[in-house]
Amino acid sequence: MKSVLKAAGSFMGVVALTLSTTAAANHAFNNPEKAVEYRQKAFSLMQNNFAVMGDMVKGDIKFDGQEFTARANDFAALAGMPWVGFQQEGAKPGDDSDALPAIWTNWDDFMKKADQFQNDAKALQQAALSGKQNDIRKAFMSAARNCKACHDSYKD
Ligand code: HEC
Repeated sequence: MKSVLKAAGSFMGVVALTLSTTAAANHAFNNPEKAVEYRQKAFSLMQNNFAVMGDMVKGDIKFDGQEFTARANDFAALAGMPWVGFQQEGAKPGDDSDALPAIWTNWDDFMKKADQFQNDAKALQQAALSGKQNDIRKAFMSAARNCKACHDSYKD
């Protein structure tokens, strides 16, 4: 009897654990609007850092290796952030989102593009650290191609 209770007890423990994990996942955002806002803010911060690097690559502003590296570091970190905002139940397109429904019907492709993008952002970070202008320019162009490639299919 005791061992049955014990078994039941540990089973309940597992159930409790599973439930709390699910609860945590559901409450990563208070509601779908928050998830949409989160991903849009992440894209916006990304874009801001990318634009400064772009201006340096194009020569619109003077190239500053230290500034470029700092931006590339932030950019690489930010590149990993928007995606969790697409995983929230209900955070689908509405008035406040430019995300296309195709994202959720082509989820694997969308995530593949997100992964490729993060790899290219890391490569840009490495190139920035190397300080080699040619490598930096090439890595920047590769990273830039990801934006359009994904937006063409998945952003309004
Ligand atoms: C794998 C797909 C993907 C990649 C890669 C990607 N984006 Fe986006 N981006 C999206 C989607 C989807 C949205 C729409 C999000 C929404 O409104 O819910 C978006 C929205 C944006 C927005 C608008 C944010 C706002 O305030 O509403 C900006 C700016 C942006 N992206 C910039 C970029 C830049 C710059 C790059 C490349 C350096 C990039 N994105 C790469 C999918 C992507």
